[in-house]
Amino acid sequence: MPLQCQLPGVTYSLKKKSCIKPFSIQPWGLSTMPSHVSVEERKALDFDRFELDEDKAVRVDWNAYAEAYDLLSEHNPAYQALLHDFEGFLATIRTPQLIYDIGGGTGNYTKIAARACPGSEIRFVEPDAGMIALARDKLAAHGNINYDTLALEDIDALGAADLVICVHALYAMPAPEQRLADMRRLLRPGGLLYLINLGRYMNVADWRNYLFSHLKKEHGLVGALRIFWQGREIAKQNKTILKAQKNGVYWTHTEEEIASAASAAGFEILRQESVYRGYSHLLVCRVKP
Ligand SMILES: C[S@@+](CC[C@H](N)C(=O)[O-])C[C@H]1O[C@@H](n2cnc3c(N)ncnc32)[C@H](O)[C@@H]1O
Repeated sequence: MPLQCQLPGVTYSLKKKSCIKPFSIQPWGLSTMPSHVSVEERKALDFDRFELDEDKAVRVDWNAYAEAYDLLSEHNPAYQALLHDFEGFLATIRTPQLIYDIGGGTGNYTKIAARACPGSEIRFVEPDAGMIALARDKLAAHGNINYDTLALEDIDALGAADLVICVHALYAMPAPEQRLADMRRLLRPGGLLYLINLGRYMNVADWRNYLFSHLKKEHGLVGALRIFWQGREIAKQNKTILKAQKNGVYWTHTEEEIASAASAAGFEILRQESVYRGYSHLLVCRVKP
């Protein structure tokens, strides 16, 4: 989840360029240049000073992220709004008997599903040991959850699920178009996918300002600084997300691009909107008959 918890006034520095090859690496071949990046955004993100030839393989250390993840999630109104949407969504559908939470992280979505659907079976899929350990603790009171410390691409189950949840995880997976097809494969005909994905570059300074002003209102200056300090690991990992996005290792996309990828994977789109302060896209999809 993209959050930034650097102290205000302290800016990060990116490496000086030695040569610029914007978007030369496109592992998924979705586009040669993300169409969502405006001139202003390039400037705000210090895009042209970024060294794209270094650290192409950079990925987030989810394990290091895990401890701090919930701290700032709890204090992030944009994240809370997403959870609220999911709870509302569950209330509108027939109780799903088999649910997958893919890239479930610390278990916040599964917690809502387990509470709303106590008679359902939930399969919690999360490859990171730190994240899944926290989820197990959080969800210990629910007896209807099975845990798989696996990446989505390593699951070979077939076509029985009524609902797949995948929130802010697809962008970090290798070959996301194929991962959409994997999720399609897990679902029964007519099954539903609740998908939220970070599509835009994570503007670290923008998140820092947003969160800090919210925290300051709620907890005062000292309280806000304390929470930022406790969650400082997130700043580090969020910079890594941005770097991986810029290097093309993590997927960025427009609303049209993710819709067309979902469609190509065999889904019809029932609902689509921009969420998470315009950084992410929410899609509710159904397996095409
Ligand atoms: C930002 S967290 C989101 C956690 C949770 N869905 C939420 O919204 O609170 C992204 C999660 O995706 C997981 N992830 C990364 N690559 C994955 C893959 N190939 N298959 C499944 N999960 C993956 C990470 O380990 C991490 O826990």
